Amino acid sequence: MPPHNILITGGSGYLGGTLLAHLSSFPLPLHGTVYASVRTAAQAESVKQYNVTPLPIDFSDTTALKQEIINKEISIIFFLIDARHSTNQVSMIEALGEVKTKTGKEVHFLHTTGAKLFSDIVGHPTNKPLLDTDPGLYEIQKTCKGPFDIMNECVQTNNTVIEIASKHGVKSYIFAPCIVYGEGEGFGNKISIQTVAIVQAAKALRQVYKTQEGNPTWPVCHVLDNTTLYLQILKKILEGEDVGHGKDGYFLASPGSVAWNDIYSAIAKAMFKRGAVDDGSVKLADDATLEKLGDALRVPAAFVPVQLSRCCTFTAVHGKEIGWKPKYEAEHILEVADAEVELILKYLK
Ligand SMILES: NC(=O)c1ccc[n+]([C@@H]2O[C@H](COP(=O)([O-])OP(=O)(O)OC[C@H]3O[C@@H](n4cnc5c(N)ncnc54)[C@H](OP(=O)(O)O)[C@@H]3O)[C@@H](O)[C@H]2O)c1
Repeated sequence: MPPHNILITGGSGYLGGTLLAHLSSFPLPLHGTVYASVRTAAQAESVKQYNVTPLPIDFSDTTALKQEIINKEISIIFFLIDARHSTNQVSMIEALGEVKTKTGKEVHFLHTTGAKLFSDIVGHPTNKPLLDTDPGLYEIQKTCKGPFDIMNECVQTNNTVIEIASKHGVKSYIFAPCIVYGEGEGFGNKISIQTVAIVQAAKALRQVYKTQEGNPTWPVCHVLDNTTLYLQILKKILEGEDVGHGKDGYFLASPGSVAWNDIYSAIAKAMFKRGAVDDGSVKLADDATLEKLGDALRVPAAFVPVQLSRCCTFTAVHGKEIGWKPKYEAEHILEVADAEVELILKYLK
């Protein structure tokens, strides 16, 4: 049987770019062509440095998208561009189903979601560790609901991926990055999301704020370790191993959790040192401040805590079971907070 052709999406992004940058140095078994989806001629040129084949895709044209996957006989797709909507994922999964019929190959779809979709934001339990191998995870995901439609939509996308993939004989994986930090190694976006939001909000208000009392925690992961989990899953798929898929296919990329308060303090110290805030303390935001934080982050005030806090006890077990070994401990994010702030201030638009 011919080897797997692989499609990586989101190569100009923070996670996808770092994944492309490490692809050729990771010991992957024999495979076919690796395609990287691109939207511009410049991106097509840029991805060639990673020894991958640029594949121009207009994601708004789902018919063409499906046809391209079938024509190229792509049998593994890693999707890293949109955790919210499911239209593209459904089209790609349907196309993979056709590739399976055409070639007889096993076909695989990995969807990148986020740890927020396994947190109290969407009503997941946080009174104990929630393992990414918990056999009840899909049922929790099916029944959970939070106050924000946009977040419920993201959860529904995870359900859709699992259900549509099962219908078309596609092995699906739900990959959850968390608070990812460190410099992106791709040709495009170099910075992440959550640490960026803290710095962006603090820069605008010249003060680091927390948005809730108590000491909530959240899983964290260096971008390199996030990348090696993607690659370890890919390696195992190429070796023909069943790593757990569908309702048993959740993967959190994280060595562990830290308290938001510790992240805020480390960032406040680094920003104060650079004169980017007026003092190095962390203050609790009142309602008026939440409005201002919302303006800085371009979200409604009620959504600010979703960006800057809340609680997630999602715990990574699955990756370690398939041989993934994170290089950095969770506390590393605190040790390198100064460099993270430097990086974010450099790239923040
Ligand atoms: N970074 C994190 O810490 C983190 C944590 C949890 C979840 N996630 C999720 O992981 C995914 C990737 O995150 P990231 O940090 O790598 O994001 P990013 O740096 O913003 O990159 C997004 C990527 O998606 C592409 N893209 C966006 N809209 C597209 C569209 N309509 N059609 C085709 N391509 C499109 C972008 O291409 P262009 O350059 O052409 O716009 C870019 O390659 C996102 O869904 C994000 O929500 C990330």
